[in-house]
Amino acid sequence: MRVHYIIWMVPFILASCVTEIDSLFEFTNIKCNSIDKKFFDFDYCHIKAVNRTFKYMSVRTALHELPVREVLADLQILRRFKGYIPITMNVTLDVCRYMNKRNSRNPMVNFFDRVLKNYSNAYHKCPYDHDVWVEQLPTQFVNTQFSDVLPLPSGDYAFYSTWVVNGKMRGTLWVYGTLS
Ligand SMILES: *[C@@H]1O[C@H](CO)[C@@H](O)[C@H](O)[C@H]1NC(C)=O
Ligand SMILES: *[C@@H]1O[C@H](CO)[C@@H](O)[C@H](O)[C@H]1NC(C)=O
Ligand SMILES: *[C@@H]1O[C@H](CO)[C@@H](O)[C@H](O)[C@H]1NC(C)=O
Repeated sequence: MRVHYIIWMVPFILASCVTEIDSLFEFTNIKCNSIDKKFFDFDYCHIKAVNRTFKYMSVRTALHELPVREVLADLQILRRFKGYIPITMNVTLDVCRYMNKRNSRNPMVNFFDRVLKNYSNAYHKCPYDHDVWVEQLPTQFVNTQFSDVLPLPSGDYAFYSTWVVNGKMRGTLWVYGTLS
């Protein structure tokens, strides 16, 4: 994994000094984009509010060329000031390599790990020979992660991910949220 831990951690160390304990996260938007629809598309990609306390996001892909043997994800968190400004490095996660050990000291990767472990069918070693989904990831779970794993000050955030699968850039998944 190409990660410069020290530089990457600085914003979090600074941010953790100003975080309130009762952070409250809400999803505001999600944008899924398939660059190569012959390779894969999204069956769905949405945020839903079941009621006042239960809101979630779900994403389901339809993979047209299986198996998947290589998955690289560029992960980055941005914060909105006048526009969205990156507050973390672009971390390139080699997902297949990661699944062999499932061990990282990067807080963003740990976050990602818990999301996959609890809410997806992708938490296993490569190859992937099936469609991949993240189903009903609740705001409540993200809330807990923000207080425990990624302490950040309140504001508008975006989580950008760019996906290189079997050697080519295939799509992007952007999730927007507010932390108050
Ligand atoms: C919201 O919906 C969930 C799932 O259907 C349910 O378990 C929960 O009790 C509901 N909460 C309220 C306050 O209605
Ligand atoms: C992060 O990586 C993505 C995909 O490689 C790229 O499009 C984006 O410009 C990068 N962001 C920065 C701030 O370098
Ligand atoms: C997520 O998974 C971990 C490990 O299996 C478990 O300890 C934790 O309670 C789960 N969290 C949620 C919100 O389901």
